[in-house]
Amino acid sequence: MDALATLDVEAFTDYLARHERKSLLRFLTCGSVDDGKSTLIGRLLYDTKLLFEDQLKSLERDSRKHGTVGEDIDFALLVDGLEAEREQGITIDVAYRFFATDRRKFIVADTPGHEQYTRNMATGASSSDLAVILVDARHGILTQTRRHSFIVSLLGIRHVVLAVNKIDLVDYSREVFDRIVAEYREFAAGFGFTTFQPIPLSARFGDNVLDRGPKLGWYEGPTLVEHLETVNVEDDLLGRPFRLPVQWVNRPNLDFRGFAGTIATGRIRPGDRIAVAKSGRTSTVRAIVTYDGDKDEAVAGEAVTLTLNDEIDISRGDVLTSAESRPEVSDQFAAHLIWMSDDQLLPGRQYSIKLGTKTVSGQVTEIKHKIDVNSFQKLAAKTLSLNEVAQVNVALSEPIAFDAYADNKDTGAFIVIDRLSNLTVGAGMVDFGLRRASNIHWQALDVTKESRASMKGQKAAIVWFTGLSGSGKSTIANLVEKKLHSLGRHTYILDGDNVRHGLNKDLGFTDADRVENIRRVAETAKLFVDAGLIVLVSFISPFRSERRLARDLVGEGEFIEVFVDTPLEVAESRDPKGLYKKAREGKIANFTGISSPYEVPENPEIRLDTTSASAEEMAERIVAYLDSNDYVI
Ligand code: ADX
Repeated sequence: MDALATLDVEAFTDYLARHERKSLLRFLTCGSVDDGKSTLIGRLLYDTKLLFEDQLKSLERDSRKHGTVGEDIDFALLVDGLEAEREQGITIDVAYRFFATDRRKFIVADTPGHEQYTRNMATGASSSDLAVILVDARHGILTQTRRHSFIVSLLGIRHVVLAVNKIDLVDYSREVFDRIVAEYREFAAGFGFTTFQPIPLSARFGDNVLDRGPKLGWYEGPTLVEHLETVNVEDDLLGRPFRLPVQWVNRPNLDFRGFAGTIATGRIRPGDRIAVAKSGRTSTVRAIVTYDGDKDEAVAGEAVTLTLNDEIDISRGDVLTSAESRPEVSDQFAAHLIWMSDDQLLPGRQYSIKLGTKTVSGQVTEIKHKIDVNSFQKLAAKTLSLNEVAQVNVALSEPIAFDAYADNKDTGAFIVIDRLSNLTVGAGMVDFGLRRASNIHWQALDVTKESRASMKGQKAAIVWFTGLSGSGKSTIANLVEKKLHSLGRHTYILDGDNVRHGLNKDLGFTDADRVENIRRVAETAKLFVDAGLIVLVSFISPFRSERRLARDLVGEGEFIEVFVDTPLEVAESRDPKGLYKKAREGKIANFTGISSPYEVPENPEIRLDTTSASAEEMAERIVAYLDSNDYVI
């Protein structure tokens, strides 16, 4: 938009300054093009006669180039919602638009209403205070209206506008409007909205958007803009207990130690008693430090640095909280999860879980049920696909501090990150902490892993054989065990086919079952390492993620990955069990290498090219490796 070339930067600086003092409302629009969503947004931007998003963008470029505006606050507001997501690699299909009236500033998250709805809605809604749910007056409440409302409620949005659009096409009928509103109220009764404002409007002709429509005399409520300008969403954050997720510890010199972050909820004053959520240590606030001097009070949304009256241990990822009203601390919780990836959620797989400023590893231990977002029905599920929503249990590698999402959107929301690709694959909302693990403590034993192993003249370890079916894993593992045995070493073999006869009898070959298969065998191998054994594990173990899980379960140097590298053609030509033939004939589903993937190890300790040497020679190589690295003493 070239209008900007003529827009003068000084006038804009002035504009920003005027708008800086106004409160900000972030809202989300839900509906499809057919409902008139684009028209409504266009109408809002047009009627408020303010800058369009692309104008702002080119102005931003412009002001950078000329260097006259400095660090522009409002631009940051426009884009900051995006940054975190961008860092996490979510493909954003959400357009953020900015406009303002004399009373308030607005950021609209405009999410496409069609197929890929849930993920995009979740992205837009995570930072929104209010949702405008659009329906076409001619069609009334549709399945998608129910779906949008469910997700909006799931994401904790407590303020909803039901915009009954195209009211002109039903002759501005009050009956039609009342009927739609009544139907909506009925199904949304349990959604916990604090404010609900139905508005009849015509985006096309502008009735009830900014100005009242002449033909809607029967309607006594506010216009859309009036409502957006006045609806009170701010108290929500300030009235809650104080929470400050620590972003970094500011320690410029020995005399100063400040804890910096953005206050998620509540307010704080010097002298207030605070606690570190996880350790339970308490202190009082000495000062609230900012660039413009110390403050008497800081509230939700402000970025501050706190200094305390006591030297207590606090680091990035900790949460400072009101001492009187503390969050939960646990390593397990129940949550609602929205899956956002094309790759399925696999229970048992390790993901990174980021809650506030803290990232830990964790897994979904159980999918209680998924929820059909159209009918709200609960359905059984073993995995989750893109856009599915479920109630799950999550277990973490260590306890963290959190609140229920219903109490606190900031300290109760988490994202799930794939550990290999580093992409965000899910968004979650904590329902409540689970106490089940809290009364079980690790029992310290006097005879240690080291003493058990050294009595056997060895260092305990897992030798993990991975490779295609028929690659030669079991043959080589068997030879290695024989050699170690004849050297008087203590070993055990966990072989896929054998373990699947007992412990893992209930598992098949879907991705989800393979993840669980490897999780169980990895845990078992870990116990054998603790027993002081050299344990040989021979499983296809096709996924990097689970092999990494197995590696992470034991200590440094206790995991030796052996990639039995046999090309598919070679394994298939050997076909010792006739399984490849059956798989090719379509008689076996999900067969590794044919209809199910094998992810090649990137950095195995040992790679065996089985086409260039005999099994005997390769077994010898492994024993030599164990010998030269002091596993056998
Ligand atoms: S893993 O992928 O979950 O690690 P695992 O090593 O336990 O597999 O089991 C693989 C063995 O199961 C193979 O050696 C083969 O004998 C048998 N098998 C039966 N069906 C399949 C299949 N669909 N894919 C791979 N192996 C299969």
